Amino acid sequence: MKGVILAGGTGTRLYPLTKIINKHLLPVGKVPMICHGLEKFRKAGIEELLIVIGKHSAGMYTELLGSGQEWGVNITYKIQEEAGGIAQALSLAEPLIKADEKFVVLLGDNLFEDSLAAFVQSFQKQAEGARVLLKKVHDPRRYGVPILKEEKILLIEEKPLQPKSDYCVTGIYMYDAGVFDIIRSIKPSGRGELEITDVNNVYAAKGQLAYDILDGWWTDAGTFRSLYQASSRLLGGPSK
Ligand code: G1P
Repeated sequence: MKGVILAGGTGTRLYPLTKIINKHLLPVGKVPMICHGLEKFRKAGIEELLIVIGKHSAGMYTELLGSGQEWGVNITYKIQEEAGGIAQALSLAEPLIKADEKFVVLLGDNLFEDSLAAFVQSFQKQAEGARVLLKKVHDPRRYGVPILKEEKILLIEEKPLQPKSDYCVTGIYMYDAGVFDIIRSIKPSGRGELEITDVNNVYAAKGQLAYDILDGWWTDAGTFRSLYQASSRLLGGPSK
């Protein structure tokens, strides 16, 4: 299986930290943020990686990671010309994924404790569709929130004012190659972006969106507070 790390975007919520340095290159714990995703994939046995980056930071990524050799992975880079949403960034992976191939996608600002290995194995056994990882959170309104029925997700509501569960859909997604046709079929949202939640809801409507729940800590690191929490977790300090 291949892995895709989405590391584009402008990181406006972390401005001015992100004025010069791309969000996914900021330090989290003892290494740049992107290295945590790389390590999670490598430890799950996924060594063929695609990293989607913005054009302004391409040089810094190649300087840090090179071909991936030093990190035990093999990296291909794709440039996202302009921020057009998570699903638009994901569409850049299409040339690298074979028609019968499944793959794993990670939003580069998602940091977590669990190993991906068991989840990837479950997805290998899944006959068709997609699989997402959920985490129970205190503030679901910041995230995509799933409505669950037994082992399937019926619908995901993106940043709902009145969340129907305490779970958030984390930025860890697993897809079959059918995802690219789905991305072509969706329309930009009100903010002009191709939303990953719209993609996932196509799978959900077909009864093909499965899930697992993360046991360990999980945080995104897109805000000052969550960036601090992520570092603190990784360095073994307080996370509040
Ligand atoms: C994105 C997704 C959201 C998901 C979150 C996880 O939100 O749209 O469904 O819960 O990532 O990090 P964003 O952080 O881009 O607003």
